[in-house]
Amino acid sequence: MNILNSIDEVRNQIKTWRKEGLSIGLVPTMGFLHEGHESLIRRAAKENDRVIVSIFVNPTQFGANEDLETYPRDMKNDESLCFSAGANLIFNPSPSSMYFDDACTTINVAGLTDGLCGAKRPVHFGGVCVVVSKLFNIVTPDKAYFGEKDAQQLAVIKRMVRDLNFDIEIVGCPIIRETDGLAKSSRNTYLSENGRKAALILNKSLNLSKEALKNGERKSSIFKDIIKEKINSEVLAKIDYIEVVDSLTLKPVTNIKASILVAIAIYIENTRLIDNFTYKA
Ligand code: PAJ
Repeated sequence: MNILNSIDEVRNQIKTWRKEGLSIGLVPTMGFLHEGHESLIRRAAKENDRVIVSIFVNPTQFGANEDLETYPRDMKNDESLCFSAGANLIFNPSPSSMYFDDACTTINVAGLTDGLCGAKRPVHFGGVCVVVSKLFNIVTPDKAYFGEKDAQQLAVIKRMVRDLNFDIEIVGCPIIRETDGLAKSSRNTYLSENGRKAALILNKSLNLSKEALKNGERKSSIFKDIIKEKINSEVLAKIDYIEVVDSLTLKPVTNIKASILVAIAIYIENTRLIDNFTYKA
């Protein structure tokens, strides 16, 4: 297993693999890897001859008051997880090698980034799109793997790839959860023992709303109220948003008809946690 820090070294390795006619899968991450990331790497290893995992805590996708400085890191564990899951190469660049001091190119996937997480994180998706585009141009993968855990990110990347004609297949992978239902996230480590218990309200409220769908509820407002009431029963939880949106356009829907994304974000002890599910009517 190989860890490369420089863009040129990665490009050389890719050239060699391409000469051998090998297909390449890319799994972009910010490290502190868990079973959620691992599931993406395993899937990529199944579907490609070679797999590159990028580990880069991308500064441009963090807002001024966000957790860039404290974002958890554990390169040793990341390394062994990557290789046991079937990765062939880790690309771990430094911020200064990824960004020119006077870089001035931006990407705005207009409309898809205004709501949901984008409403409170105005610079986030611009930063994600630029870094993911750079990774796509460096690695030139056949396929790239993203988790449904970050449903808005997945929709934004898919749209960007379509609009800008990247010749890359974007593969969405299911949310991996702890045994008690909490979606795995690097940020779960910020929670205290009580906060960790309280965080279960995310999955519980989504499960309750799935029941309502089964029972025929189709009005978004009533549906959102069901989730809101459940989350509010947990004193440690503070709602950021509860949204029912079209899964392609991410625009709010009033009546649940086509394919929808139910997405929620809450704060627990100042940690922002997200969860979601997609429903096809
Ligand atoms: P990061 O948060 O490290 O996540 C890397 C990938 O792992 C994302 O596609 C994310 O959706 C997926 N993932 C995280 N938790 C998951 C879970 N519980 N189940 C399934 N997939 C999960 O997302 C980013 O990094 C960054 O924004 C990045 C795309 C790397 C750009 O910097």
